[in-house]
Amino acid sequence: MTQLPSALSPAAAVDALPDARGYVVDAPYTARYHDLQSPARIAHSIACAGFEHPVAPGAFRYAELGCGNGVTLALLAAIHPDSSFLGIDINPAHVAWANELAAAAGLSNLVFLEADFAQAAALPWGAFDYITAHGVYAWVDTTVREQLLAFIARHLAVRGVACISYNAYPGWSAKEPLWRLIERHTRALPGGSIERVSEGLRYLAGLRAAGIPYFAANPGAGELLDYLLSEDLRYVAHEFCNRHFAPCYCEDVFAAAHRHGLHFVAQAETRPNLPFERVPAGCDHLLAAIEDIEARESLASLLRHEAFRSDLYVRERPAAIAIESSPLWDRIFTNLLPMRDIGPVIACGARTLERADPLVDALLRECESGEQALRLLGSGPALRRFSPRAVLETAQRLELSGCLGFLPAASDQTRATGAGRVGADPDGADSEDASVWRFWSSAARALLERSLHDSGFGSLAAPRLGSALRMTPTDVLALLSLDGRTVTAAAPAFAALLNASWPDVLGYRVDQAWTLAFLEDFRDHWGPVLRKLGVVVPV
Ligand SMILES: C[S@@+](CC[C@H](N)C(=O)[O-])C[C@H]1O[C@@H](n2cnc3c(N)ncnc32)[C@H](O)[C@@H]1O
Repeated sequence: MTQLPSALSPAAAVDALPDARGYVVDAPYTARYHDLQSPARIAHSIACAGFEHPVAPGAFRYAELGCGNGVTLALLAAIHPDSSFLGIDINPAHVAWANELAAAAGLSNLVFLEADFAQAAALPWGAFDYITAHGVYAWVDTTVREQLLAFIARHLAVRGVACISYNAYPGWSAKEPLWRLIERHTRALPGGSIERVSEGLRYLAGLRAAGIPYFAANPGAGELLDYLLSEDLRYVAHEFCNRHFAPCYCEDVFAAAHRHGLHFVAQAETRPNLPFERVPAGCDHLLAAIEDIEARESLASLLRHEAFRSDLYVRERPAAIAIESSPLWDRIFTNLLPMRDIGPVIACGARTLERADPLVDALLRECESGEQALRLLGSGPALRRFSPRAVLETAQRLELSGCLGFLPAASDQTRATGAGRVGADPDGADSEDASVWRFWSSAARALLERSLHDSGFGSLAAPRLGSALRMTPTDVLALLSLDGRTVTAAAPAFAALLNASWPDVLGYRVDQAWTLAFLEDFRDHWGPVLRKLGVVVPV
């Protein structure tokens, strides 16, 4: 397996690099999964914004513009084996790596094309139900932005949804000088993007130490610099070494999209679509008077000082749905991590909720004990004394904590039947033993193993969630060790992973008693969650 290089060799840079109109091509990007691009997240956010989902249930066609290393597409392709996926990227190293990832995971419903957006748009693809472009629009010049929109205008299905994410004003207004300082300082330096951005960060740290007024006047800029100093240089290079970087006011992106027949419907991120989270309390009345959805969103974006957006566009805005008939009522609401790991005070967007609150307590108990649609939870004995609207709003607030969530509608879910499961049990575990499980698919295991090396434990495909599940590195290693094994049989493998392969995960050596205790606890507390989300199936 080849790991992502930190930069391309100088020879490759000279001979093979395409003209990307000032976009970085001499250093590969990081390999990370982005939930905002999943059809499950997109459908959910459109429902939270109060609209019908335009895309028909069942298999779909999906394209990603500027797919980078293909991690998001590969994970979605594994979760949706009946659907088909296309990734387009101008960087040959990205496409080569993405092809290798798809081959390693045995994915046959996914192809990658090395091309720019204009070349790709000219090909006869047929219509896509989803077209996404994550982390591209604000980092390319105006010509490429137009090409990206033209691709969508030509290839989006009549009832399709496009997702375009970008860094936004006004949130970037105080941070944008960081980019300009790096760009000015490094533009004429020799060397590749990695060397230049590394020198740029050193320069910014020096300016801060020298006490330039910019950092004192803009505390957020110092926080961003600290974050960048801790980040992978490949990420920082793609963020700060492009010749054209221009955060956007959403109003301007809406206008550009209009010229291509596209209309804003919601954000892929759930929170800004929720009426009670959309703007700071006390500003609601300013929005209430505005009928036009884009005008309202433009003001809301200013009021919440947005720095990043993930806009969803459609050709024709779908019908609005009253909250009483929202599809959210028919979705299963459930915990996404063991209940005992959810603390007494839960940070939920602008608010905190307490577990001791009677409605929160009843909701958590009910969703732990079974798999029920919110409608059934709300009408059961524990919750029926609360108003349906209070139950829905509390569930939506709890979702913002990341500890709980709504599962996609059954009709949108994949055939998580265990097809493609790994082969014979290496340890001869008892196949009748319900405490022994396997990954739901060999592709999911292969992607998780790759992510250990390439993106730091990031991509655990959860088919019933329609997206990836977040776990700590230790939990990921426990999960891999327990694949097809009893706790006793898995303990030596787990110890070897922690002591030999990944010694930095814990920073100390573990013994057999520790690994056995950890794995038993993991099986008992994570096991039910993983089974519920379809990550593992009984042997
Ligand atoms: C910041 S990366 C984002 C990658 C991926 N979407 C992600 O979020 O992980 C932007 C990607 O757009 C690609 N790109 C930039 N300009 C392009 C163009 N004109 N045509 C095709 N791809 C382009 C780059 O090569 C890069 O992989």
